[in-house]
Amino acid sequence: MNIFILGGCGYIGSVLVNKLLENKKIKIKVLDTTWFGNYLPKNKNLKVIKGDIRNLDKVSFKKVDAIIHLANIANDPAVELDPNLSWNINVLSTKIILDKAVKDKVKKIIYASSGSVYGIKKEKSVTENLDLKPISTYNKTKMIAERIILSYKDKLKIYCIRPATVCGLSPRMRFDVTVNILTLQALKNKKIFVNGGSQIRPNIHIKDLVGVLEFFLFSKNAKTGVYNAGFENMSVLDIAKKIKKIIPSKIFITKNKDLRSYRLNSNKLIKLGFKRNFYVEDAVREIKLLYDKGKLKTSDKNYTVKWLKKLIKNDKITL
Ligand SMILES: NC(=O)c1ccc[n+]([C@@H]2O[C@H](COP(=O)([O-])OP(=O)(O)OC[C@H]3O[C@@H](n4cnc5c(N)ncnc54)[C@H](O)[C@@H]3O)[C@@H](O)[C@H]2O)c1
Repeated sequence: MNIFILGGCGYIGSVLVNKLLENKKIKIKVLDTTWFGNYLPKNKNLKVIKGDIRNLDKVSFKKVDAIIHLANIANDPAVELDPNLSWNINVLSTKIILDKAVKDKVKKIIYASSGSVYGIKKEKSVTENLDLKPISTYNKTKMIAERIILSYKDKLKIYCIRPATVCGLSPRMRFDVTVNILTLQALKNKKIFVNGGSQIRPNIHIKDLVGVLEFFLFSKNAKTGVYNAGFENMSVLDIAKKIKKIIPSKIFITKNKDLRSYRLNSNKLIKLGFKRNFYVEDAVREIKLLYDKGKLKTSDKNYTVKWLKKLIKNDKITL
């Protein structure tokens, strides 16, 4: 099986590639700008190409069975750094990718959209058929990219996954996602700062998300469409309390600037046969274990917006 992973050097991509390499029958090509580095192992079944999805002239998808598309500017504040650049990468490039995929006869594309496309939802259970009310530019880019990709549904199998906020360890670590950042605060300062706290956020462990991507990669009969992927709907304050139980610390409530609040219902995915195996607590314990061993290194690269700001300022990323 030949797989092309766009954005395979990122937080999710790095865990995904390592997992897929365990299967000796899979050959992987990764295309990534390597903005945050490349932590992928050397392996005869893996080729990493340094490049940008905005220009695929030198890239071929011939003989590729499936594309997994993870290459985006991947959070709200980072998208706001340069909205034009973000629309180019997150939205316009999807047409370039899909046109090439169809031309080169790729059979399947799996796209990491985002559960945040729902915005603020009061419903107890947010299913895929509800209206989208994206709040931020990031959420809007994800919604429009989904629509572009789905407009190719007669030409290849399409799975748009709407993951909850991801947590857990990765070789390209992110400390700007809720569980990871609150855990780091508890470990370093014995203090957890919660913005507001009552807003509900769904969560997914990174190994479960990788499991979801694999599930669709190997699925022969899952229908083209949109699938939620999030399992623990919790208030941010409850996440902090869970962390506090594992890492004794004090919780401080600060003014909330981030209004997103929604509960993901992933029954459509579960009904297909997907089984989740990991919990928020697992992510907290895994991060703590590494910290206790003195092996948890942090740098600006772990904070998407901080790092991208530097790259843009130094003209390392341009329109
Ligand atoms: N992490 C989460 O909590 C989460 C939740 C929901 C959805 N997602 C989505 O999953 C995808 C991956 O997220 P992540 O957390 O791994 O982010 P990440 O920033 O760690 O990974 C993105 C990767 O894409 C690369 N990239 C960015 N623009 C590129 C371009 N123009 N051409 C080639 N490569 C490019 C980056 O160098 C990086 O390695 C994103 O689309 C994101 O929106 C993430």
